[in-house]
Amino acid sequence: MKTSELRQKFLKYFEQHQHQIVRSSSLVPHDDPTLLFTNAGMNQFKDVFLGFDKRPYNRATTAQKCVRAGGKHNDLENVGYTARHHTFFEMMGNFSFGDYFKRDAIHFAWGFLTGKEWLNLPKEKLLATVYAEDDEAYNIWLNEIGMPADRIVRIGDNKGGRYASDNFWQMGDTGPCGPCSEIFYDHGEEIWGGIPGSPEEDGDRWIEIWNCVFMQYNRDEQGNMNPLPKPSVDTGMGLERMAAVMQGVHSNYEIDLFQGLLKAVARETGAAFSMDEPSLKVIADHIRSCSFLIADGVLPGNEGRGYVLRRIIRRAVRHGYKLGQNQPFFHKLVPDLVKEMGDAYPELKEKQAQIEEALKNEESRFAQTLETGMALLENALAKDSKKLDGEIIFKLYDTYGFPYDLTADICRERNIELDEAGFEREMEAQRNRARAAQSFKANTQLGYEGKDTEFKGYTERQTEASVLALYKDGEAVNELAEGESGAVVIDFTPFYAESGGQIGDVGYIFAGENRFEVRDTQKIKAAVFGQFGVQVAGRLKVGDAITAKIDNDIRNANMRNHSATHLMHKALRDVLGSHVEQKGSLVTAESTRFDISHPQAVTAEEIAEVERRVNEAILANVAVEAAIMSMEDAQKTGAMMLFGEKYGDEVRVLKMGDFSTELCGGTHVSRTGDIGLFKIISEGGIAAGVRRVEAITGLNALKWAQNQERLIKDVIGEVKAQTEKDVLAKIQANAAQSKALEKDLAKAKAELAVYAGAKLLENAKDLGAAKLVAAQIEADAGALREIVTDLTGKSDQAVVLLAAVNGEKVSLCAGVSKPLMAKVKAGDLVKFAAEQIGGKGGGRPDLAQAGGSDAAKLPQMLASIEAWVAALI
Ligand code: ALA
Repeated sequence: MKTSELRQKFLKYFEQHQHQIVRSSSLVPHDDPTLLFTNAGMNQFKDVFLGFDKRPYNRATTAQKCVRAGGKHNDLENVGYTARHHTFFEMMGNFSFGDYFKRDAIHFAWGFLTGKEWLNLPKEKLLATVYAEDDEAYNIWLNEIGMPADRIVRIGDNKGGRYASDNFWQMGDTGPCGPCSEIFYDHGEEIWGGIPGSPEEDGDRWIEIWNCVFMQYNRDEQGNMNPLPKPSVDTGMGLERMAAVMQGVHSNYEIDLFQGLLKAVARETGAAFSMDEPSLKVIADHIRSCSFLIADGVLPGNEGRGYVLRRIIRRAVRHGYKLGQNQPFFHKLVPDLVKEMGDAYPELKEKQAQIEEALKNEESRFAQTLETGMALLENALAKDSKKLDGEIIFKLYDTYGFPYDLTADICRERNIELDEAGFEREMEAQRNRARAAQSFKANTQLGYEGKDTEFKGYTERQTEASVLALYKDGEAVNELAEGESGAVVIDFTPFYAESGGQIGDVGYIFAGENRFEVRDTQKIKAAVFGQFGVQVAGRLKVGDAITAKIDNDIRNANMRNHSATHLMHKALRDVLGSHVEQKGSLVTAESTRFDISHPQAVTAEEIAEVERRVNEAILANVAVEAAIMSMEDAQKTGAMMLFGEKYGDEVRVLKMGDFSTELCGGTHVSRTGDIGLFKIISEGGIAAGVRRVEAITGLNALKWAQNQERLIKDVIGEVKAQTEKDVLAKIQANAAQSKALEKDLAKAKAELAVYAGAKLLENAKDLGAAKLVAAQIEADAGALREIVTDLTGKSDQAVVLLAAVNGEKVSLCAGVSKPLMAKVKAGDLVKFAAEQIGGKGGGRPDLAQAGGSDAAKLPQMLASIEAWVAALI
């Protein structure tokens, strides 16, 4: 019996018993914050059981899409390696809302499983469990169904608490629940395993195929079991495992539906088809959950459901890579899935194009980083093949977007332990960095109680006003004398106070000849600006009539960077995807620093494309227009709004032609062309899933380009290239040449050493039984050792002590030919020598090294060796 036929049969059976066929609910549960994904057939009826909701029917039957990945039931790492774990599965169910109860529920299940015209399963292959205290269910099985007593197993509270039992089902910590009765199928004695409640119950022989839950209670947060308004029934039959029973196979992956998908996976990855290849199964499983999730509106992202989806896609891509496929392939399985399941779930057909596109985007984005990340991982594993360092796990996660469980998955395949504690430490350090970056704030608590400031700076650069208040060291004062620093509050101001990422204006406040230099402007209350700085000439008094004047150049540079930020924000979303959200921004006269949510490094190509788009918008030279409107109207314009930001009733909408519309209180250029050249100068990660992009505009961009040019020119001059084009070739040639030279040099040195060694031996002092070489030569410690080894190898009679001075250090090496070792020991010799030059040493009888520091004593020490050796031979 094909899986699709089984699905239909189930629904038809219950329809014939007056059940309403109800469509599967979405995988994204509505209005239920306790649930990440729909994980059981009863989810959509939760409120009906509780009596909060009424339906026109009191019996229902469904084929329900379920996802169990992420959250409480996270089996992701097991999927592909076991016969029955899935991220996505279908649960067939029949439900009674205050209508029938235990008796009918059990009879219905039995009728479907064993009825001739239905599944016609042999009765002797079936077994039932009941909750230990549920005599009623026990007696129905025994007396009405005729199940032998040894095939009815009572299961009590076997999970460590009251009602914590395999036979007491609850949706979550709270909500509808009740005792249940499960039906098991015997896959045959050739498979290991025992009946429920036996020590071998975890084996694969007896498999649960049906669960009848007798919904009786609503468990509240205190753990009280409150009776439901009416006893009800919730049942579940796993479609895939039941199909396995009907098709006479033991693994869910062997059923028709999966066979089709597995073949498609083999086709698209180029791998050989095999039932023993876990990666094929992983991908076949994952294409189902990913496609169904996208069809229900989930998109890959960095949080919650989106992140779980992203993890599943990345796991699939990684397994494809393992099978040798490093091109995007996963999305090509969607048509095969639609073929298998599109009739039962029309949303798959309707959303096919969207699913393919979302998968393809995510795949290509990940593929680029997978290769680099895998290389990093392989490299780390080559160094230590037992345990993976927490820092590396973190780097993979942070820089390459490898979710922790993906790295865990790879390590598990190779029996490698994970340094979880190290990873946690890195995560914590990063959280601290993010907190520290957020917590900086100037002291703006000045206790001002007076008129608000009216900001004139959108249109004016210079404003006439009066001083309302002055502050010195945080205290209100009547005047500021020359040299004193403090804060000034005026009634009208052209100075922009830092907000929305744009830093405060600087400039001057003049009162006749008196001058206050404004070095920063901050809000000291919601609508009161404080101009902070130093009284640089004369004095300033409360009540003075003043002229406030901002620094034009700095303001212009701020505006260019701020307007460019809007264009960049839009371009980043267009190029990288709509998951990109603003996480922080700092606009100064020098640059714009923009933080976005994005799981991995932005590639050079993506950066180039963002730059191209922003510069295109600049060249279009469109007007930049601001309009104040109600929040409602602003929403209609489709303006970008920051999630979590609180906006008032009236908002300022800033529009740059068709390029960007955003809520913003900042100061901006009049036309995009005013921005000048736009250039991104850096990109990097600052927190998990957060990237920082820094860009410059206008004259800063020109200066940057000039510096780059100068650098290239200097490099060209340095390597003596003719043109920019051959500079790279020149550098490569130079590198190759110096490598070759190094090689030649090493060879020459070695030859020289051999030559010098031979010379030393020729000039050796003949002590009869021994030839003594005691000399200072020019060599490093390594070469010294080689020469000594060479000498003692060349002669049967050599006793050698060589010294070399390198900087402050004196290196010594002693060696003795084998036949002489019984009398003279190199270790003793080097010790004797080293002690004379302020060092210590010792070692093997044939070869020993030491060091010292007193080079001045070298000649004397070398002269002493002959007598020392002569005394021994
Ligand atoms: N809701 C029950 C289960 O998931 C039927 O097993």
